[in-house]
Amino acid sequence: MPEIVKRLDLDLGERSYPIVIGQGLLGHFDLTPWVRGNQVLVVTNETVAPLYLESLLGSLPGKAVDSVVLPDGERYKNWQTLNLIFDGLLSNRHTRKTTLVALGGGVVGDMTGFAAACYQRGVDFIQIPTTLLSQVDSSVGGKTGINHSLGKNMIGAFHQPGVVLIDTDTLKSLPPREFAAGLAEVIKYGLIREPAFLRWLDEHLDDVVALDPLALSEAIYRSCACKAEVVALDEREGGLRAILNLGHTFGHAIETHTGYSEWLHGEAVAVGMLMAADLSARLGWLSAEDVSRVQALLQRSALPLLPPKGMMPDDFLRLMAVDKKNVDGRLRLVLMRTLGRAEITDDVAQVVLRQTLESFCSHERGSSHN
Ligand code: NAD
Ligand code: GLY
Repeated sequence: MPEIVKRLDLDLGERSYPIVIGQGLLGHFDLTPWVRGNQVLVVTNETVAPLYLESLLGSLPGKAVDSVVLPDGERYKNWQTLNLIFDGLLSNRHTRKTTLVALGGGVVGDMTGFAAACYQRGVDFIQIPTTLLSQVDSSVGGKTGINHSLGKNMIGAFHQPGVVLIDTDTLKSLPPREFAAGLAEVIKYGLIREPAFLRWLDEHLDDVVALDPLALSEAIYRSCACKAEVVALDEREGGLRAILNLGHTFGHAIETHTGYSEWLHGEAVAVGMLMAADLSARLGWLSAEDVSRVQALLQRSALPLLPPKGMMPDDFLRLMAVDKKNVDGRLRLVLMRTLGRAEITDDVAQVVLRQTLESFCSHERGSSHN
């Protein structure tokens, strides 16, 4: 029998929902309380379907379940692939009482959530994230969407799921590089808002990396709890929610520079968080020891510490100038006032920013990942 390790609620009034975290939940945890009608459409992809689609059916007893299997990859997070979900809904005559279930990583989750937001002007959906990144980040908080050829995640909607079901056993089949990328987001929560969690990570990160079930569920629980708290305070990103983007401004620059193909999002965010720590230290907010502590956590997670070779400070500056957080042409960055307390600032002197960029781009700080 499954052991439900943890449960927490994201508090959004009548749109509140539970996040259930445990081992062996897929196929055993009854999802039918969150399925209003008789119809369910499971959306997954060609990698995840052979692993988990059949087991999932045990969680939907008595329901008429159809499925759509999408091609795997960020490059398919577009209108054309989204249409496959609508084809599945319409060809199987799903009504507005249908429930969509996202079974997969962040790509499947974002697309399924967006399809649910659009179909018949909005239907219910359930998130079953199967990557670490989607378990601690993308499945929680209701951001859904697809990419446009001119920008990532540029078309989307806020649409909250009815429940998030996290089966930590699914991480056993995840490639190690994808797991490490998810750890970057886990470490992020400690850095932005949870100094006690950061201390816990200092002590237990190696157990998490070794997939120790208790350590893993604790890390996922504390990450989801942090995200749930931030989203409950600022669902539509009027202000506070932007702290979830620690390291992302530098990271997005790396992803764009490398064409979204070589680097995983979490890997770019890892380097970005270290750059943000370095910049925070140059402003006198963090100490050198703080920066070393951030670096040690990333290193123990097998994450990269330097941007790609050949990427120059001017590449960063050009790409960072188009960040969504910027206001009236002024660069806005999430930095750390202390470890565990993020702050959004538009008051960083160009000369100091350049020092950080030059230090990282010169590759004098240590070894890069590629
Ligand atoms: P992903 O969905 O591409 O999954 C990574 C790879 O792992 C894929 O090949 C996938 O098929 C495979 N996979 C998934 N589960 C597996 C499992 N259990 N075993 C083996 N392989 C498995 O990538 P991701 O990192 O999960 O998500 C990235 C996406 O999430 C991006 O599109 C990003 O924009 C989005 N995102 C959204 C939010 C949000 O708030 N909505 C936040 C962060 C990221
Ligand atoms: N991943 C950032 C957010 O959900 O706001």
